[in-house]
Amino acid sequence: MWDSLWLNGKIATMEPSQVPYGALDDGAIGIEDGQIAWVGERARLPDEPKKLAKQIRDAGGRWITPGLIDCHTHLVHGGNRAREFELRLQGASYEEIAKAGGGIVSTVAATRDADEEMLLELSGQRLDLLLAEGVTTVEIKSGYGLDVENEMKMLRVARLLGKGREVTVKTTFLGAHALPPEFAGRSSDYIDQVCAEQLPAVTGEGLADAVDAFCEDIAFSPDETRRVFEAARTHRLPVKLHAEQLSNQGGAALAAEFGALSADHLEHLDAAGIEAMKEAGTVAVLLPGAFYFLRETKLPPIEALREAKVPIAIASDSNPGSSPALSLLLMLNMACTLFRMTPEEALAGVTREGAKALGLGTETGTLRVGKWADFVLWDIEDPAELAYRLGGNPCAGVVRGGTVVR
Ligand code: NIG
Ligand code: FE
Repeated sequence: MWDSLWLNGKIATMEPSQVPYGALDDGAIGIEDGQIAWVGERARLPDEPKKLAKQIRDAGGRWITPGLIDCHTHLVHGGNRAREFELRLQGASYEEIAKAGGGIVSTVAATRDADEEMLLELSGQRLDLLLAEGVTTVEIKSGYGLDVENEMKMLRVARLLGKGREVTVKTTFLGAHALPPEFAGRSSDYIDQVCAEQLPAVTGEGLADAVDAFCEDIAFSPDETRRVFEAARTHRLPVKLHAEQLSNQGGAALAAEFGALSADHLEHLDAAGIEAMKEAGTVAVLLPGAFYFLRETKLPPIEALREAKVPIAIASDSNPGSSPALSLLLMLNMACTLFRMTPEEALAGVTREGAKALGLGTETGTLRVGKWADFVLWDIEDPAELAYRLGGNPCAGVVRGGTVVR
């Protein structure tokens, strides 16, 4: 007997299929031990529902999708950058502000100032907004501490967020996010510290599931990034990269060389980068919130990524400087309006492909037997509605590991 059986739902399984959204018209999901034991059209159930499961649940005719996955966030940070937003509106660029000691470094000061309890409170409030919209898995990066103690503090808070709430948290160490002021002019020395001190301390306490870096003119060079990736390799951690956001540094190809889970942003990605990502199975994580908020004009090469069949994920990049976004559903809309993705591609970007970007492709991201029973019930008439609205929250319920949690 299954623990429970959900009936009376239209199910967007998001399994690759000839049918849009991998949809089932009158679907059923059987759950056992937190995992999906059966999923398909109700008419194909092997027996009468009450003989199959201890508990029968009624989805009320609603749409059901996999739990949403936000695979790129900087949710844990102190302060905000509303003042910098005003400066940019007066004409200063993101790069100019960063070079003048604002930008990421100003969030570093605010994050160093905040204690663990304060950070937990602030980031918990932000996370709750994502969860209310059906997020069941989230990635959270460090990168505003930039020294041993503060990077560890951020990652500890990220882990605590996962323990105190109904969400799976994957943590990413991003020590190579920006050059802290105490290392001004000594970028290479800072990378030494990242590799020789920060990363071992972080892995020593099991605080990181992956390693990321920011490869850019205003951040770290490809050579410095390579050193970080080599260190990650010695600690057996997968890598990801902020690549080709503001310029083409060949970062995506470098990430692919290290078998990266994902390369993220990618507005300036070229054909060689796409080819390398395709070969390595590296996911392209597109961040329409940052594209929008920085008023970028150069689009990521969506059509070429599609043609190469590189998996495309969508994430919020939730951070105080380039994407103060607290709605993953709004990112679906932006992926469609700004990047011309289809609503189905956008939804796959925050489910199936988002899972791959976190190395969780066999655990979550679609509704298939053996995966976690993480799914969302929606008050919508068509799955395209999830990408269609700007605001509003049609989430009617969240099931995580088979249990109704919201
Ligand atoms: O993903 N690109 C670098 N990192 C963040 C921005 C962080 C910040 O501005 O605070 C991003 O856009
Ligand atoms: Fe980012």
